[in-house]
Amino acid sequence: MSLQIAIDGPVGAGKSTIAKECAKRLGIVYMDTGALYRAVGVYCKESGVDAYDEEAVADYLKNINIKIRLADGVQYIIINDKDITDRIRTPEASMLASKVSSYGAVRAFLLDLQRDFAANNSVIMDGRDIGTVILPKADVKIFLSADAEERARRRYDELVGKGQSVNFDDVLKDLEKRDRNDSSRANAPLKQADDAILLNTTGFTFNESVERVMQIIKSKG
Ligand code: DC
Repeated sequence: MSLQIAIDGPVGAGKSTIAKECAKRLGIVYMDTGALYRAVGVYCKESGVDAYDEEAVADYLKNINIKIRLADGVQYIIINDKDITDRIRTPEASMLASKVSSYGAVRAFLLDLQRDFAANNSVIMDGRDIGTVILPKADVKIFLSADAEERARRRYDELVGKGQSVNFDDVLKDLEKRDRNDSSRANAPLKQADDAILLNTTGFTFNESVERVMQIIKSKG
């Protein structure tokens, strides 16, 4: 029997780190769907396509063959047989992803890839529309959130930890802008599914968040 777990929420709520750890404990696969939108945004930019031009991006999708490869629990994104994974984690890539993910054509383009993945594996998928659009019948749906300042602090620490030079106020501003974009777009906006459990992790340690998510999964799954 396959198990589908959907985790949605705003930027920096800890979705990916928590989901990754829970997937490890459950012995199932973790899929980071934001990486797909990031990869499309970065690939368009690198190909000279203006990510802010919806028509140009929609038209360019026919030149993109995107695949997910998993190795030792790490997810790699391959576009046209080239690995783009190490270029999708910059603040610029975040904004490009937030932009291209608002286009219906991009969402349609990535829909089957995500659904097929969940049909073939027991998964925890994180994103913005997993519980509402991608896996509306998921066994467990969790909407993870935390106060914006705390989310920005976590994101700032993560970027600095990766050696990027960023400023806290810029991180907070970008995060709020991205949340506004992601929640207000017409196509599959960031939104808690009616049957999702809301978990606010403000003030929680990473371990406390993981324990709480595991409890929810065990009670529902
Ligand atoms: O989760 P993330 O920060 O890597 O996502 C990057 C952007 O991609 C995010 O700002 C909105 C978009 N996204 C989306 O629209 N739907 C998803 N399921 C995942 C991400």
